[in-house]
Amino acid sequence: MSSIIIYGSKYGTTKMYAKELSKRINVEAISYEKLNDINKYNKIIYLGGLYAGGVLGMFKTLKKLNNISNKKIIIATVGLADPADETNINNIRNNIKNQISKEIYEKAKIFHLRGGIDYSKLNLAHKTMMKLLYNAVKKIPEGKLTAENKAMIETYNKKVDFVDFSSLGKIIDEIQKWLRKVRESDGVFVCIVRESKRHALDLLMCLCYFSYFNDIISTTKKSNL
Ligand SMILES: Cc1cc2nc3c(=O)[nH]c(=O)nc-3n(C[C@H](O)[C@H](O)[C@H](O)COP(=O)(O)O)c2cc1C
Repeated sequence: MSSIIIYGSKYGTTKMYAKELSKRINVEAISYEKLNDINKYNKIIYLGGLYAGGVLGMFKTLKKLNNISNKKIIIATVGLADPADETNINNIRNNIKNQISKEIYEKAKIFHLRGGIDYSKLNLAHKTMMKLLYNAVKKIPEGKLTAENKAMIETYNKKVDFVDFSSLGKIIDEIQKWLRKVRESDGVFVCIVRESKRHALDLLMCLCYFSYFNDIISTTKKSNL
């Protein structure tokens, strides 16, 4: 089965995770913008940066999947808010639900990684968006702030880096489970082939004996005549 890591990254943190994962599991990593045909892969690992709740490039990429019955899919988000926070995870997952089909959502294993931000590198549209968001979030009473709101306030106008490659461990564990299943099914196939070969040999021997005895019988019959 062929595998691919696809990433949607604007400022590089998701790309860093994708490249590291690629190194660790020896699978090619490619940007969603450069991917030609998603349907030729059976194991798809999609990593996307979070932008206003959306997973960058995910909708555009996964909507091209024709038949997912024999596919394995992983989706990993990379965002600024803490992925250890349950409310944050619920929000991200609800947003994902609205961006992909029910079938893919139910099939996919979903993970959450933490990225980073460097305000000095943001384009004008993103800087403006973050400023508007910051001004709105600052008005929320302290007790009602979500993890996402807090991350926004704490990191506003700064350069922060929460990239942690050890968090790829859970994704790698899931991929190894896939590989183990493939090896097991390969094992069953090898057994079937081995058994079939053995039965074919037995059949051949029977045929040899049959024709050998047949010859003897017909020779005996001829000599009696
Ligand atoms: C305009 C904008 C919107 C963002 N929206 C979210 C968000 O909804 N949730 C979140 O956790 N992080 C959000 N972030 C932070 C990014 O997800 C984070 O910087 C991530 O590491 C970006 O990935 P990239 O470097 O691969 O593009 C936002 C950042 C920007 C600039």
